[in-house]
Amino acid sequence: MGFSRWVKWIKIPFFLLCLVPAGLLVWKGVHYELTANPVEYIRNDTGFWTLVFLCVTLAISPLRQVLHRNELIRFRRQAGLWAFFYGVLHFLTYIWLEQSFNFALMMDDVVKRPFITAGFISFVLMIPLALTSTSGWVRRLGGKRWQWLHRLIYLSAIAGVVHYYWKVKSDTTIPMRFVAVLVILLGYRVVVPIIKSARQPARHAVSH
Ligand code: HEM
Repeated sequence: MGFSRWVKWIKIPFFLLCLVPAGLLVWKGVHYELTANPVEYIRNDTGFWTLVFLCVTLAISPLRQVLHRNELIRFRRQAGLWAFFYGVLHFLTYIWLEQSFNFALMMDDVVKRPFITAGFISFVLMIPLALTSTSGWVRRLGGKRWQWLHRLIYLSAIAGVVHYYWKVKSDTTIPMRFVAVLVILLGYRVVVPIIKSARQPARHAVSH
C-alpha cells in the first residue's frame, strides 16, 4: 500500500496522539497529581502544548517539500486546529480559573504586562486561522488571499515564543529551544525561495 493510502489510516492515530496531552491532564486531575498548584500546572502545560502544535503545523510544509510527500499537507489543518484547541484551554485556564471571567481585569493585564500582551496577540491571531481553516473558506477567499491570511501563523508563533521567553525569568533553556526551532522553520521559508530563484536564471542561461 502506498503512503497516500496510509494517510487515511495514520490520521486516526495522529488524532489520538494529539489528544494525549489533554488526556494526561484529565488523568492527572482525576488522580490528584496536578501538583500543589493545579491551576498553574494546567496553565503552563496547555501553553507549552499550544506552542508545540504551532511548531508542528509550521513543520508540515517544509517536511512535505524535503520528503517529497505531498500527502503530508492533509495533517496541517488538524495540527493547526490542535494548536488552537490547546490555546483555548490555556486561555480558559487564565480567564476562568485565574480571572473569574473578569474581562476588564484581563485587559488591564494585557496592557500592563508585556508578556501577557504577547500571549494575547498570539492567541487573537489564531482565531481567524481556526475559523477559516475549512476548504469552504479556501474557496470563498480564493487560494491566494487564504494563503496570505494564513501567514498570520508566523506572527502568532513568534508572539507565542516571545510570550514564553518573557514569562521565564531565569532559565531560558526551553524557550530558547523554541526560538531555535522557529528560526529553522521560518528561515526555511525565506532561504529556500531565494536559493530557488537564484538557481532558475542560471539554469535558464545553461539551456540557451
Ligand atoms: C490571551 C492569551 C494568553 C494569556 C492571557 C496567557 C497567559 C499566560 C500566563 C498567565 C502564563 C503563566 C505565567 C506565570 O506562571 O508567571 C502563561 C504561560 C505560558 N503561555 Fe500563555 N497566555 C496566552 C496565550 C498563549 C499562547 C497563544 C501561547 C502559545 C503560542 C502561550 C504559551 C505559553 C507558554 C509556553 C507558557 C509557559 C509554560 C511553562 O512555563 O511551562 N500562551 N501564559
